[in-house]
This record gives sequence, structure tokens and C-alpha cells, in this order.
Amino acid sequence: MTQLRFPENFVWGAATAAYQIEGAAGADGRAPSIWDTFSRTPGKVFAGHTGDVACDHYHRYAEDVALMADLGLRAYRFSVAWPRVRPAGTGPDNPPGLDFYDRLTDALLARGIDPIVTLYHWDLPQALADRGGWTVRETAEQFAEYALAVHGRLGDRVRTWTTLNEPWCSAYLGYGNGVHAPGGQDAGAAFRAVHHLLLGHGLAARALRAAGAQVVGITLNLADVQPADPDSPADAAAVRLVDGLHNRIFLGPLTGAGYPDDVLAHLSRLVEPDFLRDGDEKLIAAPLDLLGVNYYSPTYVAGRAGGAGSSAYPGSAGSVEFLPPGGPVTEMGWLIEPAGLTRLLERVGADHPGLPIMITENGAAFPDDRTDELGRVADDDRVRYLDGHLRAAHDALARGVDLRGYLVWSLLDNFEWAEGYRKRFGIVHVDYPTQRRTPKRSARWYQEVISRNGL
Ligand code: FCB
Repeated sequence: MTQLRFPENFVWGAATAAYQIEGAAGADGRAPSIWDTFSRTPGKVFAGHTGDVACDHYHRYAEDVALMADLGLRAYRFSVAWPRVRPAGTGPDNPPGLDFYDRLTDALLARGIDPIVTLYHWDLPQALADRGGWTVRETAEQFAEYALAVHGRLGDRVRTWTTLNEPWCSAYLGYGNGVHAPGGQDAGAAFRAVHHLLLGHGLAARALRAAGAQVVGITLNLADVQPADPDSPADAAAVRLVDGLHNRIFLGPLTGAGYPDDVLAHLSRLVEPDFLRDGDEKLIAAPLDLLGVNYYSPTYVAGRAGGAGSSAYPGSAGSVEFLPPGGPVTEMGWLIEPAGLTRLLERVGADHPGLPIMITENGAAFPDDRTDELGRVADDDRVRYLDGHLRAAHDALARGVDLRGYLVWSLLDNFEWAEGYRKRFGIVHVDYPTQRRTPKRSARWYQEVISRNGL
């Protein structure tokens, strides 16, 4: 019996990213990205894992699209690898690289699956990284050129365009604490990267719209930041700082309000903001048709003199303590709290009325060490996680949030960045030695949710 129904036209889908699944790292003219370099650098990725083969999706996309159709997906969010399309980062285009996304798009449409294209999911061409990557303005300008090249090929069939995935990770993990490629460890560089990523978004969004793109958006991993003690003014100050560094530094400029004063004051203590040019905030504030929100876990903080802070939040040491999870966690160690998703969606909905939202990622890694009598991974913990978060999303809908869809992370087990292949997020199991795909129990559960349009 259906207990919770979702709106008609609610978009049900799944998400992946190029470097995490495609493999074929040297095929058809693709050049290295920062993730190829990073994963080949000893000590950066678990057990020296790389994306060289990954799920070999580049060669198996037809089988994967058939799997999506079998599950009843209405939409599929994939990313385009910049170094396949423009191996040098700049022009000229590499037609065989574009051909792949052309084939994939056609295969999806032939099955009635709406392609949602993400233009940047962290795989910056190494050639651009060698010239400064996101710390320099040229990368933002080149990103807009590359976006146009992809639109030129797919724009007649792809309706929904996402510029960046989680610029917070690209900037703070890529340039601030070195956990992600390219591995920089410098607060100033992290803020430069934030700005040039946002600028790249703005330039690309304008260019895409001028070229006729219908729906243009960006995906942020917004944080639901909560105080350890709701009555403590020190904790409230910690929430404000972390919220500023994680959420408002992006949402402000993107929605036309510019960088918040408190965030500018904070970053100016860590870097000379000479990279902010007059007119940039205007460029960043290109109209948005859709905000993608990725949510996995809430963030609890306390305000404490001498607090350890977090290397992922430049300038947080000395005043902020990040709390360890106070409840059940996934295999990533991430606290499971579906209510955080409701709070986050309500907050974004209230702060930015008129901006449609889509959950562009939500899911969980679990050990997946049980199989049932049918030989499927019996991932009941993942089913519980997804069920809880869909109920939380429904709560937000019931409270009036303009939520358009839900994309599970991820379709397939894949290369989980610094964690390599040891963390499995897929609703479909991938046996890496044979590349055999087997839907887990969660995939069959999700198939039913989609077919009933509810829980
Ligand atoms: C997000 C990333 C995605 C995946 C999930 C688990 O931060 O966008 O690629 O790794 O986390």
C-alpha cells in the first residue's frame, strides 16, 4: 500500500560522475586530469587505486543504460570529462570524446531517460592545473568555452545543464587540505579557487543560456549546520562561521546577494582578496533555473576557544570544534540523520523563494557483506537509509518546498575518490574483476518506489 505519494512529474533518477565510472583513461584522445595525476601519486588514494578502468562504463554504457531502463529511472545525471572533450583544457575539441557523450545521450533518450549533464565533476585537465588550475582566472574563462563546446554537440537533445558539482569540495579539499586533487594545502588558494569556480559557473551559465540551454543550474553539497547546544551563543557563532564558509559563500553570489560581509571579513584575514574584480559578483549571479542539492549528513559544531576546527574549513581552528557523530553512521563514518535533509531543504526554500530544487545526490556506503538466496547484495541498511531520506524529502515537500526530484548516489559501485574502490555507494553491485553488474536489494526497492511514485 502506498503511504506517501510524490508529486506527479517528480523526477526519479540516479547519478554518477565521469572519473568514478568511465575508465578508458587513455582512450580516444583523452588526456590526464588532476585525478589521474593525484591517484597515481603514492599515498593519496587508498591502496593506489585509480580510475584507469573503474566500471569501464565508457565501453559498457549500453548495458548500463539498459539497466537504468530496467529499474525505471526517469533521469540520469552523468558528468562530462573535460579532458575527453578538450584534452589540453583549451581548444580544439577532441571529436571522439564528444562522440561518446553523443552515443550515451542517444541511448538514454531511446529508453525515455532524461539526461542531466554535469559539466564539471572534479576532473580538471592536467594541462590547466599546470597553469594554476582554479586558482587562476583563465580556468574560469576556459570552463565557459568548454561548456559551449559540449552544448554545441548535445544541446539539441539535453535540456538540463549543471555547471559544477560541489565547488566546496573542489576548492577546500582540492586546494585547502589536500585530501582531493590537485592536493593543494593553502587557505588562500582555496578561496581563490572558490571565486574562480563561481566565476566559471557564471560565465558558463550565461554562455549556455545564450546558446539556447533550457534549464541551467549548479549542484552544491550544502551543509545542515547545527549547534551542539541550541542555547549557546558561542555555538551559534560557530554555526555562523561554518555556514558562511560552506553555504553562504556560494549561495550569496549565486543568488545575486554577493559575498556576505562576515565571510569576506573572515577570508580577508587569510588571503589578500585581490582576485575579486569589480563586476565579478554580477557575472556569478547569472539566472538559475534549478539548484541541485547533495545531502549525506548534517554537521554539528560547538564554539570553543582553542577548538581544533577542521582543515576543510580554513580559519576554523581556534574557535570551532566539529563534533563526532552522535548516532548511527554509514561506512564513511557519516552520521545518518534524515531530518537534516528536511531542515536543509526548508532553509534553502525559505531563503531563496522561486528557486526550484532537486536532490542531485543522496545515498550511502555500507559494507555490503551479505547476500540473499537470489545472490543479490542484501543491503537492508542502504534501503533504510534511502527510505528515511525519501521520507525526509517528502516532509519538505509537505512543508511547501519546491522540490522537483531525487537522484540516488549512485547507480553503480564506483571509484570513491580518496577512498578508492573500498567504499561502495551503488544500488547496483559491480564485481570489478569481471565488471559484472548485479542489482542489489536496494535497486529493486528503488524500482518499486519509482513505479508507485511513492513509499
Ligand atoms: C559527493 C560527490 C560524489 C560522491 C559522493 C559520495 O561528494 O559528489 O562524487 O563521491 O560524494
